[in-house]
Amino acid sequence: MEVSRRAQAIRPFVVMDLVARAKELEAEGRSIVRLEIGDPDFPTPDVIMRAAETAMADGSTHYTQSLGLPLLRDTLVTHYAEHYDVAVDSDNIVVTQGTSPAMLLLFGALLDPGDEVVMPDVCYPAYPNYVNFLGGVPKLVPARASDGFRCRPDEIRAAIGPRTKAIMINSPGNPTGAVLGDSDLAALAALAEETGVYIASDEIYHGLDFCGPDRTILSYTDRAFVLNGFSKTYAMTGWRLGYLISPPEFVRACEKIQQNFFLAANAFVQHAAVAALTEAKPDVARMRAIYDQRRQYLVPALRELGLTIDCEPSGAFYVFADARVWGSDSLALCRRLLEEAGVACAPGIDFGDGGEGFLRFSYGTDIDNLREGVARLRAWANRAV
Ligand SMILES: Cc1ncc(COP(=O)(O)O)c(C=O)c1O
Repeated sequence: MEVSRRAQAIRPFVVMDLVARAKELEAEGRSIVRLEIGDPDFPTPDVIMRAAETAMADGSTHYTQSLGLPLLRDTLVTHYAEHYDVAVDSDNIVVTQGTSPAMLLLFGALLDPGDEVVMPDVCYPAYPNYVNFLGGVPKLVPARASDGFRCRPDEIRAAIGPRTKAIMINSPGNPTGAVLGDSDLAALAALAEETGVYIASDEIYHGLDFCGPDRTILSYTDRAFVLNGFSKTYAMTGWRLGYLISPPEFVRACEKIQQNFFLAANAFVQHAAVAALTEAKPDVARMRAIYDQRRQYLVPALRELGLTIDCEPSGAFYVFADARVWGSDSLALCRRLLEEAGVACAPGIDFGDGGEGFLRFSYGTDIDNLREGVARLRAWANRAV
């Protein structure tokens, strides 16, 4: 009996193999500077922890409504009004166990077999995997470093065909840290309205934009799904909470998927998320300022090592650097850096063929680690290149 074709088609996330190897080396006593993971090093802010403890003590340990706690959905409505000046209807919000399950709801509600989703190459690898898994077809459009990792509008337009249901965007982006500006979002919204496709906007790194205000696609068009979650901005990756804001015509479909596959998101974590939205603003500002200091250290430090960074990251906590000066096979290079330099980073190939030759460095780790990582890379490059 064979593994299903659907499961076989999922591309492995090779950075996870590197994580496993890094842990093995650490268990053998080697010191490894871990720059490969997209997980904030900050503890979850106290106000959020306390809200979860209180909610548990108060008995919030049972199923909630499948769409999510009304209190959290109402708090999200207030958050969108205050943070973006956008009116969201609480009926269109589905609370999920992380942004990842929200992708299953979105694509599950939207795609029939053979339907297409236009997305950037490079992008977060779950997007093409989800689309493939559901029988859809990812249509990749190059996002070149020389264009600031933005897809060219004419290439997006050319990729849209009769079976296209959505254009996937992610700003600030993983793995690039690139941010789409006002005119980019306005142009995408106009294209969606002209062609009748939806924009699927992953906004999980909102709150971590160093150069300007967060911009939600909902300020530009209603033909949009928003994916978001608490993992990154609030340092809550392990809590598993996210949400989908859907056009009204898809909410019932999403609700049915949620009811059957997940039932509901964690009850006390939903209460903690209310505290995140209402009480953790100073914590988010503090973490953002620290990430920004790290970014300002790491970008020039990597350039000094000889890596090319055409597009300076302005959001999230990643630097996506062209490392072909050290080797063009990004996975082989990552393996060498791990074994020979004791530095773990993510291979660009994980994020699409367009990422080959690049390395992703995460600065979700403290500045001393970053300095140590850079020193090790410098010593390695002097020896090996
Ligand atoms: C762009 C992007 N979207 C979604 C996710 C997954 O987030 P969650 O922890 O909410 O499932 C990640 C995690 O790295 C990400 O980088």
